[in-house]
Amino acid sequence: METVNSPNLPQLLPTPPNNFVLGTIKGQRPQTRFYHFTISKVQGAPDGVSKPMLVANGMSPGPTIEANQWDRIVVNVTNNLDTRTAIHWHGLYQNKTNYYDGTTGITECGIPPGQFLVYNFTLGEFYGTTWYHSHFSTQYTDGLTGALVIHPTDPAPKNIPKWDGEIMVQMTDVYHNFSQELLNAYLSPSGIDGTPGDEPVPDGGSLNGLGQYGGGGDYFNFTLEDDKTYRIRLVNSGSLAPIRFSIDYHPLTIIEVDGTFVKPYVVTGLTIAVAQRYSVLIHTNQTEGHGRYWMRTLLQSNMFTYVQPGQNVDIRGVLKYASGVKNQSLPSAGADPGVPSRKDIGDMDTASLVPAVVSRPPNPTRPYYVNFDFEDNANGVNLAYINGTSWTPLSGNTTLLKVRNAFLTSTTYAPVGGSVQPGDQFLLTEDSIQVVDLIIDNLDNGDHPFHLHGHTPWIMGVGTGRYQGQALNTANALRRDTMVIPADGYTVIRFITDNPGVWAFHCHLVWHMAAGLLMQINSLPTKTGQLDIPQVIIDQCNASAPGE
Ligand code: C2O
Repeated sequence: METVNSPNLPQLLPTPPNNFVLGTIKGQRPQTRFYHFTISKVQGAPDGVSKPMLVANGMSPGPTIEANQWDRIVVNVTNNLDTRTAIHWHGLYQNKTNYYDGTTGITECGIPPGQFLVYNFTLGEFYGTTWYHSHFSTQYTDGLTGALVIHPTDPAPKNIPKWDGEIMVQMTDVYHNFSQELLNAYLSPSGIDGTPGDEPVPDGGSLNGLGQYGGGGDYFNFTLEDDKTYRIRLVNSGSLAPIRFSIDYHPLTIIEVDGTFVKPYVVTGLTIAVAQRYSVLIHTNQTEGHGRYWMRTLLQSNMFTYVQPGQNVDIRGVLKYASGVKNQSLPSAGADPGVPSRKDIGDMDTASLVPAVVSRPPNPTRPYYVNFDFEDNANGVNLAYINGTSWTPLSGNTTLLKVRNAFLTSTTYAPVGGSVQPGDQFLLTEDSIQVVDLIIDNLDNGDHPFHLHGHTPWIMGVGTGRYQGQALNTANALRRDTMVIPADGYTVIRFITDNPGVWAFHCHLVWHMAAGLLMQINSLPTKTGQLDIPQVIIDQCNASAPGE
């Protein structure tokens, strides 16, 4: 496929390095933090290869939003694209503000070209490392992502070591083609490579917006003080590939998983699925390596179904100690030395992640069973089906507006329980507070990182084969909002339907969400119907945008 060059587009702006240095606002009094994001199309070259990108404020990653728990966040998003856009704040609960969740076809119709929407919400129970991204089709694949970091009000649990400074690492796979072209090929009867269902394979990747490809590109650099402890916040903001992160010679102490503090767990490296986050602590006291180290982000190839010529899966950044900063040369070119000082540790096993504070889930009141798979439809297009339904976003309307309109006319949009509403909308509806066990069987032979909006579910059980009543972890279950449902395996999650709204539950691999791998949790529709949906969101649904 040819890369489309658009020489008339403005050039991508560099993201300033201090965008990735955090912690400065920690502990400030609760306040409202204002941001202006202008979304535009630019020409950029994150790994040295020029490509069209969709970005916030001219740069990718976009501006970091750093706040404290209970702050109010106000983001004026102006859409200068020729298509709609919508920004989702991954992991936030949006309690009483479901309409600002930013999910196209579910909570909004997307901001039409030339218009703006002011997202305005208060940070609630959620804190930790997360990110924001476009939730319109595959737009975020083209660069429309940024970090979102929320410091908790309460001090970290006692078993979490202290740290002196904190930095952000956003890692992603990179496609040289515009995602819309790739999506069109993926969702055609011949598929992208002649086999329908084969996902577009990335060309390379980037770390904080910089990568290397075919001898070109650049390295992101951090300079850290010597003999200090740093918290590195990691996010895989990519579209398909899990990514393994490591730093030469440095043991990594995992302390956070999607906002949940975990018992310190020392590893040599960790593989992060799309949309997952971790925090690791490092200590800058290694004596090997002369104060200059590779940060490595290795794209994992398990989802790659064909060979992408020229592909680079080994994307790096540089971490320097202040004492070694005068030395401008790159770390040595040799193979990954690993962590020779710690022969006793290995890579992260997600089964070994334990909450730092015991988290005993409440007993379930409502079990639901779903399964998903991929199949060719009548036109030979390979689509994803959850309980036989392949999601497509509503157009000119949203599930949330349908719930509200039903409430206003004293009817119901969807009955309690599972139902499929017109337009391939598969929902689980509860109009009272229930503790739901959602059992998901993955009938496909690939891993799928699913994300539940508006909640942090307990991960009750994960295993191979179909779920047949295997024991659940009722004693101390990890809570996280993005969980891998293993190939030909099952996952059971538990959550409480106490957050009024319509919440997407979907595979975060962009190609799969676009192929329909999404269902919705419709919580407390009687309360949802009374939410004060801003008129502008309704108007933007009714507006017709070019090409619609
Ligand atoms: Cu990170 Cu539905 O999104």
